[in-house]
Amino acid sequence: MSRRYQLIDFGNGRKLESLAGRLIDRPCPAADNASPRDPSKWSDAESHFDLTTRTWRHRTPWPDDLHVEVQQAPRQRHDADAAEEPEDQLLLRMPVQPTPFGHIGIFPEQTDNWRWLMQTAPADDLPGRANQRQALNLFAYTGASTITMARSGLKVAHVDAAKPNVEAAKRVAAANNLDDAPIRYLVDDAAAFVQREIRRGNRYHTIVLDPPAYGHGPKSKRAPRSPGKRPARQAQAWRIQRDLPELLENCFELISGRSFRILATGHSAEMDQSDVLKSMQRILSRSRLGRLQPQFETGRMSLPDPSGRKLDAGFYVRCWKEEST
Ligand SMILES: C[S@@+](CC[C@H](N)C(=O)[O-])C[C@H]1O[C@@H](n2cnc3c(N)ncnc32)[C@H](O)[C@@H]1O
Repeated sequence: MSRRYQLIDFGNGRKLESLAGRLIDRPCPAADNASPRDPSKWSDAESHFDLTTRTWRHRTPWPDDLHVEVQQAPRQRHDADAAEEPEDQLLLRMPVQPTPFGHIGIFPEQTDNWRWLMQTAPADDLPGRANQRQALNLFAYTGASTITMARSGLKVAHVDAAKPNVEAAKRVAAANNLDDAPIRYLVDDAAAFVQREIRRGNRYHTIVLDPPAYGHGPKSKRAPRSPGKRPARQAQAWRIQRDLPELLENCFELISGRSFRILATGHSAEMDQSDVLKSMQRILSRSRLGRLQPQFETGRMSLPDPSGRKLDAGFYVRCWKEEST
């Protein structure tokens, strides 16, 4: 049986997806202005998420070991009907589980970005773990990009403000036999972590960031207050429009060497790829990295359905400078 993810249909503000054969029906604002192509299929859904009550309804129990596999290359027409996926082509094995937020443990619209991270990984010319190149994954959640970068030979710092999300990423690493890979898991505020890394002098070859429109830093443990002392400040809430330009500027400061990659993605209606591209170009125009004349690629992430329609799922901006030979 195929273990792939497939968008089956979308419309009326919802999407119907197959997770290795299990059909699920979830809300999707990007599908608000579309009509379902195949209304009869929706009655086969085994799990539904209701946004108002924030609850899942399952017709059959969710299988314990359900997972989706992502291949290194898109399927060719001639092997699209093959029942088995070739094991040597496997990029990611993602355990999928329903969460109280209506997430499922994979953001499949990122598939082309994971493939890009793998295909453009720096050549392994620095033997030994101590010399391994560093990658930073901010707002890292499921860790799919973390796993991809670790698999390509990079040492990864994985940062997310939500402890349960970081714990989930560790389980994803285990499902990919990467429990012992050089990955540092950090429950932290992305912007604050980047500022500290600049001060500490740590530098990275690759930085991936997938910020939400709104978000919060980690919940701080309430320390006992001594009389007359003010409580410790919570990290400021994250707002993409307000905070992304400064975070990008700081990310470029964290880049070292003459080859690098930055991948920024987002799902917010408040910003798109042209805003992020302009922001990056402005930063580079006054930075040493600008003189390296990096390349850019920008566009929309999307999910195709079997009829060829595309469901929009946000923007991507890739900025990179290849190793010169
Ligand atoms: C859109 S998801 C990222 C999904 C990720 N690209 C993946 O494939 O799993 C956004 C993540 O940002 C985290 N987050 C929100 N605000 C944050 C902050 N201020 N600092 C760090 N992480 C934050 C959330 O906990 C969530 O896991």
